[in-house]
Amino acid sequence: MGNDLVIVANRLPVDRVTLPNGETGWRRSPGGLVAAIEPVMRTHGGGVWIGWPGGTDQKLKPFEEDGLALVPLSMTQDEIEGHYEGFANGTLWPLYHDLVAKPEFHREWWDEYVKVNRRFAEKAADLAAKNATVWVHDYQLQLVPQYLRELRPDLRIGFYLHIPFPPAELFQQLPWRRQLLEGLLGADLVGFQLPGAAQNFVRLVRQRVGHKTHRDLVYLPDGRVVRAAAFPISIDAAGFEDLANSDQVVERAKALREALGSPRTIFLGIDRLDYTKGIYARLRAFGELIRDGHFDVEDAVFVQVAVPSREQVEQYRLLRDEIERLVGRLNGDLGRIGRPAISYLHTSYPREEMAALYRAADIMVVTPYRDGMNLVAKEYVACRVEDDGALVLSEFAGAADELRQAWLVNPYDINGMKTALLEAYQAEPKELTRRMRAMRKQIRQHDVKAWASSFMTELEDQVHTDHQKVVRPANRS
Ligand code: G6P
Repeated sequence: MGNDLVIVANRLPVDRVTLPNGETGWRRSPGGLVAAIEPVMRTHGGGVWIGWPGGTDQKLKPFEEDGLALVPLSMTQDEIEGHYEGFANGTLWPLYHDLVAKPEFHREWWDEYVKVNRRFAEKAADLAAKNATVWVHDYQLQLVPQYLRELRPDLRIGFYLHIPFPPAELFQQLPWRRQLLEGLLGADLVGFQLPGAAQNFVRLVRQRVGHKTHRDLVYLPDGRVVRAAAFPISIDAAGFEDLANSDQVVERAKALREALGSPRTIFLGIDRLDYTKGIYARLRAFGELIRDGHFDVEDAVFVQVAVPSREQVEQYRLLRDEIERLVGRLNGDLGRIGRPAISYLHTSYPREEMAALYRAADIMVVTPYRDGMNLVAKEYVACRVEDDGALVLSEFAGAADELRQAWLVNPYDINGMKTALLEAYQAEPKELTRRMRAMRKQIRQHDVKAWASSFMTELEDQVHTDHQKVVRPANRS
């Protein structure tokens, strides 16, 4: 026995939390990874998902939550500090996001990362049926494909990186660069958000590991062929559209607008509270537009939802302080009684409330310094069922490759952002409709189902190719 599909991700789709009444319960985990994989599991039905449930509780048994079979893999306090907060989020996260913050390199963190990756691989090896497919996710688990292949050579192994993969010039700072590349090469198919990331990876494998490569293929000495390719991730577009059309969401969107004092224009930002997201710069741009007299707090409000994230990591705490100081200053300088310039919420919301916010917002502002994809931008587009509303989007989000009709901005350029925000504010309804219609078409055609099935199909084809032991091209470089 065993499972034909095993998903391995650092997090389970639900997180163990202590509720206000002191009891423990489950809450949906934050971030794009969970948002994307959950619908995949549901359509496949029957697979299992291995992940960390948050916290250090060692006693949790496999369980079912909302129809999904979940296998919790707990971590010790040292593992949380070394693997999760340390190597994953203090080293790899900033390194893979263009050094937006300074990565730290600590040998003890690496040791914990290795340990945890090994445990995830062992658990997947235990649970997978013969010839099963195992799909490993994201930067926290880059060594799992290699360890898993050592334990279970019969498996089809796919790996998908949800965040950017950096250019060689940055990646090679890593003291453990070769080990990570070899870890990923345990997979049959390594998926990235964008073609440039796949090219970075293949180039690094050639330079640093010395394997032969040809276009998107890597030839290993044992005859295996690994493919690296781009699969831009997406959302359940139809699901969001239905939700946005529901009476409950329509009503809630109206109520939100009224609660904000029925301003002419609602600007909206929804992000995990992360230094890659460019929250500070966008709020400054908005504040300056009011100060410069382009609009008034009676006309416009900026709703910023900051979803709590990685709160034990020093850089995240500092960021929270900085942003909250700025919000306080902007509201103090620009607001009036009952009319703050920024309506700031440090919390996470269920999908229904997000859909209502998307429906209520006239201008969605997504300005990361670097982002693998950014599903919030896509969710906003899916929820604009009347083909209105404007999206202001960073060029450095993966989503900018697909959402070309957004107002694209360089988040480092505050004046440029001010111009784009103002243009979106002043845009004619016809112009908004033209842009939104094109973006909605793109999102509808490239939804999360299409993403998952193209990855799975390629994975099957790739393994097939392996078994055929293809003749290698003579002039591969
Ligand atoms: C991003 C990452 C995910 C991660 C999520 C939330 O979307 O790609 O792997 O799960 O952020 O971050 P957290 O640290 O809370 O898991």
